[in-house]
Amino acid sequence: MTAREVVLLTGAGISADSGVATFRDADGLWEGHPVEQVATPQGWDQDPELVWRFYQERRSGLAQVEPNAAHRALVELEQRLIAADVGFTLITQNVDDLHERAGTRRLLHMHGELAVLRCESCGVRARDLEHLDPETFVPCGSCGHVRLRPDVIWFGELPYFLPEIEGAMGRCTEFLAIGTSGVVYPAAGLLELARECGARTWVNSLELPDNADRRDFFRPGRAAEVVPTLVTELIEALGL
Ligand code: APR
Repeated sequence: MTAREVVLLTGAGISADSGVATFRDADGLWEGHPVEQVATPQGWDQDPELVWRFYQERRSGLAQVEPNAAHRALVELEQRLIAADVGFTLITQNVDDLHERAGTRRLLHMHGELAVLRCESCGVRARDLEHLDPETFVPCGSCGHVRLRPDVIWFGELPYFLPEIEGAMGRCTEFLAIGTSGVVYPAAGLLELARECGARTWVNSLELPDNADRRDFFRPGRAAEVVPTLVTELIEALGL
């Protein structure tokens, strides 16, 4: 039998159904700043206090949200596929911890994680959701540097797990993009890559993403409502 692998890419839309805040007001600003200003290495260099407050707000917000039916359906999918000896990789652009809290195991956080801090000096990482004071930096426990930065990928930085993602895309026979607008690269290029590799492609989003086309099975609607049905459809399509 041909080896099969299901690869998923998730984005902000799946977390939206858990109430994860975007922290942008109607003008797309946070406390009067474009979000890009607080999500770049330059922003951190110029005003680390501001950037730290932004991320401490987001880190604190993790305790206020729970995984939803879409996250849980993807855990069921993973378990069914693994039991049937079908490959599974979930790539997420989300920096929240909802997939792992739901129980997903094979997960690649390509844009990093809010729950992790990284030393900008020695590079050591620490999982930390205890220090949430927006006014106080966390010093590095390893080299003593005055402050750790959030271990998230900022605009202009290279995403994590690119070799692992490339490997999964090379094996991919079915690809699902869930709750992602298809505008931020390189993640946005994965849907086209999947088609080029001959994979069947499914897309869930509120509106047709920029990178979708008629070859995709488009399932519009809220992830928490659509993804459980989509998982059933996929399991049937795989003949499991
Ligand atoms: N269910 C399904 N899809 C939804 C829902 C929902 N409840 N709510 C919104 N969406 C869809 C929107 O229609 C949109 O297509 O999710 C997509 C969200 O798009 P973006 O906000 O651009 O999020 P994402 O694609 O994850 O952004 C990629 O950009 O901001 C950076 O680094 C950040 O990881 C992020 C990256």
